[in-house]
Amino acid sequence: MARLTSLDRSVAGKTVIVTGAASGMGRATAHLFADEGANVVVADVGDDRVARVVAEITAAHGADRVIGVPTDVTADDQRRALVGAAVARFGTIDILVNNAGISRASSVFADDESFGEAWNATLAVNLSAYAHLVRLVVPHMAGRSGRIVNVASTEAIVATPGLAAYSAAKHGVVGLTKSLAAELGRHGINVNAICPGPINTAMTAAIPDDSKTIYAKRKVPLRRYGEPEEVAQMTLSACLPAASFLNGASIVVDGGMTILH
Ligand code: NAI
Repeated sequence: MARLTSLDRSVAGKTVIVTGAASGMGRATAHLFADEGANVVVADVGDDRVARVVAEITAAHGADRVIGVPTDVTADDQRRALVGAAVARFGTIDILVNNAGISRASSVFADDESFGEAWNATLAVNLSAYAHLVRLVVPHMAGRSGRIVNVASTEAIVATPGLAAYSAAKHGVVGLTKSLAAELGRHGINVNAICPGPINTAMTAAIPDDSKTIYAKRKVPLRRYGEPEEVAQMTLSACLPAASFLNGASIVVDGGMTILH
């Protein structure tokens, strides 16, 4: 194999779709790819929320390398519109970051209606949408060194009481990632999962700061929550041309939480 050059550590000119890109890790990921010279497709629910991130990236890098496509990833027609808009604007898709997610309590002791609602909503956003979106982007990636990153969680490795749906979905994302990696490798597409630990985003914003501090000191060797940018950096790394032999992996970004006895 030829010696890897500095060019192999660049996503400049690549086109990336980031779902859930209006907030948290998705927003950080969209910004980081834009900073690194990629064409960025910002997908999330809420026209205003999407437009805000597009405006931020436009302010930093101009309007040529970013579009926003308001998308509910659970809706098939909207997923198709997202992929269509990306291809229409940038010609192809090189990278998909399946990141959109929700976290709902889903205790087995909840009433039937609320458990069913939480279960269905969580699986739809956090797992089914990932698979359906991959199916739509693969025809645009095949044979072109495509990269897919699925954002899972440490809830794909360990589990928290009362989060049955979330943990099941995230374990599913890791299984999905392995199956896709096995199937798509021969088509030149690498598929990997990122498993973040506790991260300061909208998803964890309702947890009081002192509770976060106590939790982190007890559970995380680095004794703090992570920041969205710290996860985005690992997502970017998994998408670099230089990460050419990384496939089917689950990369844990948790400050050491899951290795602590
Ligand atoms: P966040 O709440 O800041 O961002 C999630 C984004 O997903 C939001 O902008 C939301 O609008 C979007 N989203 C939700 N449903 C959607 C739908 N149907 N269609 C399109 N977009 C939708 O949360 P965060 O933390 O940045 O979450 C990103 C990913 O990281 C999620 O998959 C989450 O499960 C995962 N994660 C989060 C952790 C944390 O501690 N914050 C830890 C481990 C994993």
